[in-house]
Formats: sequence, C-alpha cells, structure tokens
Amino acid sequence: MRRKIVAGNWKMNCDLSEAEHLLAELKRENLSKEVSVIVAPPFTNLHHAFESLKESEIFVTAQNMHQATSGAYTGEVSASMLRSVGINIVILGHSERRAYFGETNALLAEKVDAAITANLTAIFCFGEELEDRKQGRHFDVVKTQLSEGLFHIDPSKWSHIVLAYEPVWAIGTGETATPEQAQEMHQFIRETIATAFSKTIANEVSILYGGSVKPANAAEIFGKPDVDGGLIGGASLNAKDFAAIVNAFGN
Ligand code: PGA
Repeated sequence: MRRKIVAGNWKMNCDLSEAEHLLAELKRENLSKEVSVIVAPPFTNLHHAFESLKESEIFVTAQNMHQATSGAYTGEVSASMLRSVGINIVILGHSERRAYFGETNALLAEKVDAAITANLTAIFCFGEELEDRKQGRHFDVVKTQLSEGLFHIDPSKWSHIVLAYEPVWAIGTGETATPEQAQEMHQFIRETIATAFSKTIANEVSILYGGSVKPANAAEIFGKPDVDGGLIGGASLNAKDFAAIVNAFGN
C-alpha cells in the first residue's frame, strides 16, 4: 500500500529561533497517525530539526542537495553530509530550483542517482507552467520531466521515490488546480509509470500534489483516488494550518 504523505516545504524561511518555535508548536499538535508527516527546513536548521523531532513521528527532509559526493563545489551540500546530520530524505527538482537555479531534467537525473546511491528517499518535483497548460501540452511536459529525470532508474529503486506534481501556476499564487485537474494529472502520471515500468510500481509510488494547498481545500484534493498527499509551501509555516492539512487527510 502506498503511503499518505504531507510534507511542509519551508523554503528560505525560518532562522534558528523561528524554526525552534515552529517545531515546538508542531509537536504540540495532534497529527493523524495515518499520515507520514515531513518538514523541510533550510540547511542551517536540519540538524536542529532532526534532534528536536527525534522522539516525535515527524520526519525531516532537505530541500535540495548537490549531485557530487564531495569536492570543490562552493556553497553546496552532498547526500552524505545530509545523512551525517540524520537526514534521509531530500526534495529534488522543485520548480523554484528549476526556474531560478537552472536545474534541468538531465541534472536532476544525476541528483536522483546520487540520492539513491546514498540511500536517501527523493521527493521528485515536476509540473507544467501556465503557458504549457494554456497550449494544451501539460501532459507532454510532465511526461518529459518524468522520463528524462527519473525513468533511467532501476525498477528496484522506486521504493526510494516519492513524486510531487506541482503545477507552477499554482505555487504560491493562491491559484489551486481543481481537485479534478489534480486527479486527471495524477492518474496520467500513474499510467505513464505503469507503461514505462509496471503496474505494481505505479500503484505503490506516492504522488503528492503541491500548489496553494490550504486547510480549506486540502480535504477535497486529498479525497481524489490518485492523490496520496501534498507538498505544502506557505501554509506549512503555520503549525495550526499545517496540522489542519495533515488531519484533513488522515481523518
Ligand atoms: P505553496 O507552495 O503551497 O506556497 O503554493 C508549494 C510548494 O512550492 O511546494
């Protein structure tokens, strides 16, 4: 059975004391046991978050990593460095990484390999831009992102992968895909994986939706059969909202 997952992507928010505060608030919330809850603080807070959440059931993920194991890559962080501070999940290919830091499908394929080699779980993000949807090529764009970034992996490695479909036009805009649009794309993603790999793999991979998920719309989106959870940006910075989103799913 695939897992239900709600992950909070803090992006470049929260210094150490703000992170301490948010984590303390989160630990006080009653979170559904049916859902794997994950938070993604910035690099500087990863170790603290890991220590702080050790006794809880909340997992911690990094927002990015470099594809090389070590070396002269100023400003970068490797998979083994993440592991050394207790982190075994990493978000890869977020649309902001693709748009502002030039991350391509080919680069992401290397990052996916590095994550798998280091025994990390990768939350692999992808999604079309508004223009793609207007031109009716959103399915093609998503298929290319998946095939170029991910489809080279060995079938046995799919247990390391969580997918996050995030239409770029819905991220941070307040504009959500309708539950029907999310379901239509998630179903397409699952069918694409079934064709490229197998039905079993397609049925077991969790596919999260991301883009302006809020307490008010979470239950409806998560209610769709191929939506296995969410990647939450803005609303994850408020413990009550984030908990409400988790519990919209788990109850
Ligand atoms: P948002 O961000 O919830 O603020 O739209 C989602 C994301 O970027 O993962």
